[in-house]
Amino acid sequence: MSWFRKSQSQAPAAQGGAPQASRAAPAAPRAAGTVKVAMTVNGKAAAADIDPRTLLVQFLRENLRLTGTHVGCDTSQCGACVVHVDGRAVKSCTVLAASCDGAKVTTIEGLASDGKLHPMQEAFRQHHGLQCGFCTPGMIMAAVDLATRKGGNLDDHTIREGLEGNLCRCTGYHNIVAAVKAGAAAMGGMRQAAE
Ligand code: FES
Ligand code: FES
Repeated sequence: MSWFRKSQSQAPAAQGGAPQASRAAPAAPRAAGTVKVAMTVNGKAAAADIDPRTLLVQFLRENLRLTGTHVGCDTSQCGACVVHVDGRAVKSCTVLAASCDGAKVTTIEGLASDGKLHPMQEAFRQHHGLQCGFCTPGMIMAAVDLATRKGGNLDDHTIREGLEGNLCRCTGYHNIVAAVKAGAAAMGGMRQAAE
């Protein structure tokens, strides 16, 4: 992978100018240097030098301060961290930021446009598809992906199955399913209007 090559090529340069005393110092916690990563996030270019182990969710939250993407479990269970990478939903706690070099990433902050909520966001608002809201960004990002892949006419079973990777501790899911159904239909309507 390209970041391995970059890390290796950076190592001699980083060590070359170091004084003798610092070479003898105890090993740093991480041996690798940083890697440069560049991607488009919510339509804007974003680039940084990062630890190669940086997760996409960390990059979004800590480097770009896009804190709408939540971390609920860090173990790929809850779906609170779902974002879109090149148009597909991914759990950003399971993806290295470096692997998204050159990708187009959309977070919950990038869904609304011209001050108007995305139809899926509007449907969650209208159908009370949330209580505390912690799961909501990931739920909405996963729902948009589901509607994009499966179309605007989603039945309850398809929605529940499609969102099985997203956990909600509050709502009992009933209103979420209703919101996704309405949001998907509205997205379908949007597409038809654009065609
Ligand atoms: Fe990524 Fe829970 S934080 S799945
Ligand atoms: Fe609270 Fe889903 S609304 S976790």
